[in-house]
Amino acid sequence: MWPVSVIYMSGKRLPGADCVLSFSMEPLIFRITDIAPETRDAATLKLEPVGGELYVPGKMPAYEAGQFLTFLLTLRGRALRRSYSICSAPGVDPFLAVTIKRVANGEVSRYLLDHCRVGDTLVSLPPFGRFTLATHPQQQRNIFFIAAGSGMIPVFSLLKKVLREEPLSRVTLLSQDRDEDSILFRKSLAVLRVRFPLSFHWSAFLSKPADPRINGRHLNSTILEETVGRQGASVPDAETLFFLCGPLPFMRMSWFTLRVMGIEERQIKKENFTVDAVPAPPVSTDNRPRRVTIHYRQKTCTIRVAYPDTILTAALHQGIPLPYSCRGGRCSACMARCLDGQVKMSINEVLSEKDLEQGWVLTCVGYAETDAEITV
Ligand SMILES: Cc1cc2nc3c(=O)[nH]c(=O)nc-3n(C[C@H](O)[C@H](O)[C@H](O)COP(=O)(O)OP(=O)(O)OC[C@H]3O[C@@H](n4cnc5c(N)ncnc54)[C@H](O)[C@@H]3O)c2cc1C
Ligand code: FES
Repeated sequence: MWPVSVIYMSGKRLPGADCVLSFSMEPLIFRITDIAPETRDAATLKLEPVGGELYVPGKMPAYEAGQFLTFLLTLRGRALRRSYSICSAPGVDPFLAVTIKRVANGEVSRYLLDHCRVGDTLVSLPPFGRFTLATHPQQQRNIFFIAAGSGMIPVFSLLKKVLREEPLSRVTLLSQDRDEDSILFRKSLAVLRVRFPLSFHWSAFLSKPADPRINGRHLNSTILEETVGRQGASVPDAETLFFLCGPLPFMRMSWFTLRVMGIEERQIKKENFTVDAVPAPPVSTDNRPRRVTIHYRQKTCTIRVAYPDTILTAALHQGIPLPYSCRGGRCSACMARCLDGQVKMSINEVLSEKDLEQGWVLTCVGYAETDAEITV
């Protein structure tokens, strides 16, 4: 638990807030213990915890396969944060690791790949994310992983977990990459295929295979439908699960294909790595400032939220460092439960119908329509 105390910042109360909570912005500090190239533009960083407020000496932070770390960096005087999925799997790998893929002109990915060295430290929020899977050793079901490019990173973690913990299930990986050399974890996946010949099936789609005599192939809706049908889910049973991760057009194609096939929303999990554009605030006819009470890390605080600020923006301005990553309604790092009042979101790419029914909201795109009370 993060220790918190109620204090005044710089000796005075910040405007709007009934209190100011003091939090360390260094929940976890990791040291890089190894850097291994995966492809020409990606590398895996092994990390060991060495400090921070959540650090327990000698212990790895608890995490689930498919979750991500959010690194807090300051580059050229600017505070930046970026999330990176954990590619290791607890109970399978004796280490914790993330894989970074270079984004052309990307500020943080290039910094991590070009400047980080073994022995350097990185500050991170605790592992978080809902792209996870509860396994049961006796369960016998179809699980499909549909990944493109760096989307393979959380999928690799989940795959390892399922193959180990759910031996009776049938696991199918459909991957889309440019060529053989750009497939992340290619050798490890090939080893898994040999080790689990009955339970693990992998179809790799390459848009530009190295051999010019072989035509490129794209996973499209027709192929996806056929493949899912061939693997026994043509009449998808309620236990079948689908995990999607990749560029947005790829995920949209996969999502719509599966939905048209009759697969229910609750059977499909997706992880978004990119934010297209930060959505505009919803149009409101009543822009009166609202009071939002926030329960966070065993403390309670009431802040003033004035349109067009989101709850997250207002909280950060008033000294309450609520967790966040993408700030675009896609990663779920800012999830909170609304206990009272109305919070309207301008976009929601991660919360399910069930989450919404239970009152979950995203503070990064959440606007207080009335006075409200949330717990983070
Ligand atoms: C939940 C989550 C998990 C993630 N896991 C991983 C991971 O395991 N490995 C990994 O490498 N990245 C991952 N990402 C993406 C990562 O957080 C950064 O967005 C990415 O590294 C780019 O950051 P940057 O600072 O280098 O680029 P920026 O300087 O932020 O962006 C530069 C340009 O690239 C575009 N861009 C940003 N991100 C991407 C992207 N992912 N693909 C293509 N174009 C992009 C931007 O629109 C912009 O035009 C994850 C993101 C989320 C939300
Ligand atoms: S910070 Fe990513 S959904 Fe809010």
